[in-house]
Amino acid sequence: MSETMLKVDDLNVYYGSIHAIKGISFEVKSGEIVTLIGANGAGKSTTLNTIGGLLKAKSGTIEFEGRNIGGTPAHKVVKEGMALCPEGRRIFQQLTVKENLEMGAFTRNKAEADETIEQVYEQFPRLKERVKQVAGTLSGGEQQMLAMGRALMSKPKLMMLDEPSMGLAPILVDQIFDIIVKLNKAGTTILLVEQNAQMALSIANRAYVLETGKIVNHGTGEELLHDDSVRQAYLGG
Ligand SMILES: Nc1ncnc2c1ncn2[C@@H]1O[C@H](COP(=O)(O)OP(=O)(O)OP(=O)(O)O)[C@@H](O)[C@H]1O
Ligand SMILES: [Mg+2]
Repeated sequence: MSETMLKVDDLNVYYGSIHAIKGISFEVKSGEIVTLIGANGAGKSTTLNTIGGLLKAKSGTIEFEGRNIGGTPAHKVVKEGMALCPEGRRIFQQLTVKENLEMGAFTRNKAEADETIEQVYEQFPRLKERVKQVAGTLSGGEQQMLAMGRALMSKPKLMMLDEPSMGLAPILVDQIFDIIVKLNKAGTTILLVEQNAQMALSIANRAYVLETGKIVNHGTGEELLHDDSVRQAYLGG
């Protein structure tokens, strides 16, 4: 049995008086791909952003490798071994591809960063061809690859991906999902948030369904792909 890497217990997150996350609990084991699926506004990004230290929970615990990391600021969360690839990519538009990647390596020394950047170029040859290109001029798919590459520059044990397929053509969606599976096979544990439930469930070991801030269903990816209520709500029947 693999060990629990991330454990979230009874988490509550508010935006002012809006109770966005209502006591959710879930876990990610070492080596898994776990996905959180749910409709717009369900609380998927809020969950990832809270784990990533961008938002503060009102109550509940977040444990990473047995350490309580609740309330830890984002830059320290990265040092703990987690990276967040945020929704909408959030790359530095004015900087080059290489400069963006280097920004992702702020926890590491130059030699380590140089080594990892070569690994990122192996994973994303498209980026290597464009090292000096200004990031804002990359295609949508290339920008997603850059955002993932930048997150990988910290060599995370756990990579959190918020809607990596958003706005991409189907062929690029396939490519991005292939890359996620490859990263996982190479040893990175994945917590994936997606509206593309079909794709997410088909690569996930386990999945949780989030509805208006609550987890209403969970199971293996396979189980949820064949679950009637999931099919009706998220897979078009
Ligand atoms: N900064 C904010 N201030 C107030 N409410 C917010 C804020 N950010 C999110 N919310 C609310 O919290 C709820 C959860 O939002 P969240 O962004 O986590 O959903 P999501 O599942 O990621 O949705 P999507 O699929 O559209 O990205 C929504 O009702 C949203 O309107
Ligand atoms: Mg979101």
